[in-house]
Amino acid sequence: AVLPPATLVIFGATGDLTARLLMPALTTLRRQGYLDDGHGVLGIGHSEGDATMLRDKLDAFRAEKGGEGDADKDAAWSALLDQVDYLSGDFEDDALYASLAERIEGNVVFYLAVPPKFFAPIVEKLASCGLTKESDAGWRRIIIEKPFGHDLESAAALNARLLACVPETQLYRIDHFLGKETVQNIVVARFANTIIEKIWNSDCIDSVQITAAETVDVGTRGSFYDATGALRDMVPNHLFQILATLAMEPPASFDAESVRDEKAKVLRAIRLYDPAEAAENSVRGRYGAGRIGDRTIPAYRDTPDVAADSRTETYAALKLMVDSWRWAGVPFYLRTGKALTARDTEVVVTFRQVPFAHFPRTRGADLPANRIVFQIQPDEGIDMDVSIKQPGPEVATEGATLAYRYPRSADLAHLTGYESLLHDVLTGDQSLFQRADAIEAGWRAVQPFLDAWRESEPETYEPGGTGPAAADRLIERDGRRWHSIARPEG
Ligand code: BG6
Repeated sequence: AVLPPATLVIFGATGDLTARLLMPALTTLRRQGYLDDGHGVLGIGHSEGDATMLRDKLDAFRAEKGGEGDADKDAAWSALLDQVDYLSGDFEDDALYASLAERIEGNVVFYLAVPPKFFAPIVEKLASCGLTKESDAGWRRIIIEKPFGHDLESAAALNARLLACVPETQLYRIDHFLGKETVQNIVVARFANTIIEKIWNSDCIDSVQITAAETVDVGTRGSFYDATGALRDMVPNHLFQILATLAMEPPASFDAESVRDEKAKVLRAIRLYDPAEAAENSVRGRYGAGRIGDRTIPAYRDTPDVAADSRTETYAALKLMVDSWRWAGVPFYLRTGKALTARDTEVVVTFRQVPFAHFPRTRGADLPANRIVFQIQPDEGIDMDVSIKQPGPEVATEGATLAYRYPRSADLAHLTGYESLLHDVLTGDQSLFQRADAIEAGWRAVQPFLDAWRESEPETYEPGGTGPAAADRLIERDGRRWHSIARPEG
């Protein structure tokens, strides 16, 4: 059904995010019949220009990415583009908000696709000009991009400034990982299936791995990345949202507050290490120069806008404990890095060994452990590793995988994760958006690593590999191994 009419006001509309992620997501929603001409996009940016300038820019970006060609998608795109308007101005200038006030009425989503230093100033201006005030004539919702703070203190300060202007119910802190199909499927797999949820605890589960491996290097994002690093860029947000989804207790209902209460509890239960423990349970790496396939990768420190003596990590691995009854003693191994051998975002849940295996041709220790793998991307799906009997007169076991793959018609490859999240903003469903307390709990759990790493130097690893050798030692000292990421690039 068509979603409630609304204007999407995008601050930073001439930036990369709008062209690369937001417009494609809106096009998909339009094609699926969720949006119509009642959904306008009003872009705001520093660049001089008008609607034609922005439309041409967006169109050129799409053409360059090879987005054209499918009649259905092209029709949705041009219908959407017709609804795009532009307003040029300075985010900190009152005059911009005065012209904005004349352009909007009814339901409005303000999307802050801007550098983080503008988050609070924009919301403060919107509020002081009365633009965030809701009435019978329409609601007002604000979407905030990441990074939300750069440590616990700055995240708490940002929350305080925003919440002084608008209530939590109007704030949508977006994390596009929560829009990914397989991440949402973790919730359904757990809470729509008795056979999974009954064994989802330390009685049956040995350990959990959460991986976000990328083949891309830092490329043109040097100035952002050098001030951020792999830990801040991926862990307190994307990986922790996956962890919370995987580890939360069943919510009392699926309304936003119940779900967000349970996720926040998990994040609060992550053990807070002292600096020595944080150092012992983490590894940081930085890629050197090399090649991945036919791509030449310059050493991270030779990336444009990266300091020659930079200590920023491009790889991070952590071992975390969640101190709750359900997860006592189950380690959660997290890793993420750039310039690795394959793109692979996955969650691997490894179960305990069977207590006995009296099969003549198998010894218990040789039976591979059961595993459930949520393959988030690429090649989205869910795998369950089991042992089965080999065909033949003798009883011998072997490993097999029960695999679910989405039908081709689901067309997941072109989805960005923003589709379902924008849909939820328009329907007013906050369950997949991060609440202030969860954001702060996440930062609290990574703060010991930030503190422990202040003086440390990341270990160099080769592009096209699986990361620093110390990351292997981190998990192998516990008698475990990382799940392989070495698949063909998807
Ligand atoms: C972004 C990070 O939030 O997520 C990037 O800033 C990272 O560094 C990206 O590449 C990964 O997202 P996806 O959807 O491509 O896996």
